[in-house]
Amino acid sequence: MERPRRLRSTAAMRRLVRETQPRASQLVLPVFVREGLAAAKPIASLPGVSQLPLGDVPTVVEQAVNAGISGIMLFAVPEVRDEQGTAACAADGILNAAIREAVDAAQGRIVIMADLCLDEFTSHGHCGVLDSRGRVDNDATLAVYERMAVAQADAGADVLGLSGMMDGQVAAVRGALERAGRHDVVVLAYSAKYASAFYGPFRDAVESALEGDRRTYQMDPGNAREGVREATLDLAQGADIVMIKPALPYLDVMAAVAAVSQVPVAAYHVSGEYAQIEAAAANGWIDRKAAHLEALTSMVRAGADIVLTYAALDLARWLGEES
Ligand code: PBG
Repeated sequence: MERPRRLRSTAAMRRLVRETQPRASQLVLPVFVREGLAAAKPIASLPGVSQLPLGDVPTVVEQAVNAGISGIMLFAVPEVRDEQGTAACAADGILNAAIREAVDAAQGRIVIMADLCLDEFTSHGHCGVLDSRGRVDNDATLAVYERMAVAQADAGADVLGLSGMMDGQVAAVRGALERAGRHDVVVLAYSAKYASAFYGPFRDAVESALEGDRRTYQMDPGNAREGVREATLDLAQGADIVMIKPALPYLDVMAAVAAVSQVPVAAYHVSGEYAQIEAAAANGWIDRKAAHLEALTSMVRAGADIVLTYAALDLARWLGEES
C-alpha cells in the first residue's frame, strides 16, 4: 500500500516537505487616502481598514517597512469629482499628493505603487470617460490614462497599477512613459480583472459613485481562456507584472497565466474576499489567522509571486512567528 501519511506524521516532517511557503516580502498592502479628512475613518465593510488623511501616509509607510512587506498600493478619494476625472491628472490631486508623501517617507525601503484608473475621480464612477451616448469610450480614456501615468511618474511612483481594463492600456501608458523619458517606471497590469461581486467593500472604501456595472470592460466570470488572452496581450504590450483579480475564485486563471508568463504574476485578494474572512471570524465561525494564511498559501501555490491583501501587516507578523 502507498502510505502518503508518513510525510504528515510530525510538524517537523510536514515543514520539511511543504511545497509552498509564502514570504512577507511577497506582500503588498492596499491603502486608501481620503482628501479633506482630519483623522483616519474606519471602513465599516472592511474591518481593520480605514480611509486615511494625507498626513497619515508616512505612518503607514513606516508600518509597512517595519512589517517587512515589500510595498503599498495607493488609492485615493478626491473631494470633487467630474465627468472627465480631472483630479486624477492634476499634479496636486490627492492621489499624486499621496504618492509624493509615500515616496518621500519610504526612501526606497518599500515599493510605492499607485492605482491608475479613473473610477475614483469620475462623477459617474466609471473607469473611463464616456462618449455622447454614455458608453465608456475606450480610446478617449487611453489619452487620459497617458496623462495620469506621467503625472504619477512625476510624483515618484515606482509602479503604476493599471486597473481600468481598457483595451490597449498597457501599450498606451508604456508609450507615454517612454515619451516622457520614464522607461524606469514599472507597469503592473491588472490583466484578468473580472466583473466581480467581491469588490463591494472597496466601493464603500472609495465612496464609489457607480450606478450600473462594469461588464463592458471587466471580464465575464465564466471565461478562463480569455483571462490568458488578456494577460498575453498585456505581456506583448510591455507589462512588467501581470495580475489576476479577484484571487481565490480565479485560481484556475492564475495557474494558467503563471504557466505562460515570463514576468511575475500578482494576485489581488480583494475587499470582498477579505471581508468574508473577517465577518466569519468576528462571528467565531472560522479562525481568522488560519483562514488568511490558507488563502495566501493558495494564491502562491497557484502561481502568484506577489499578493495584494488588506491583511498584509498581520500576515507578515504571522509568517514571522511561524519560522
Ligand atoms: C477600480 C478598482 C476596483 C478595485 C481595485 N481597483 C474596483 C472595481 O473595479 O470596481 C477592487 C479592489 C477590491 O475590491 O479590493 N479601479
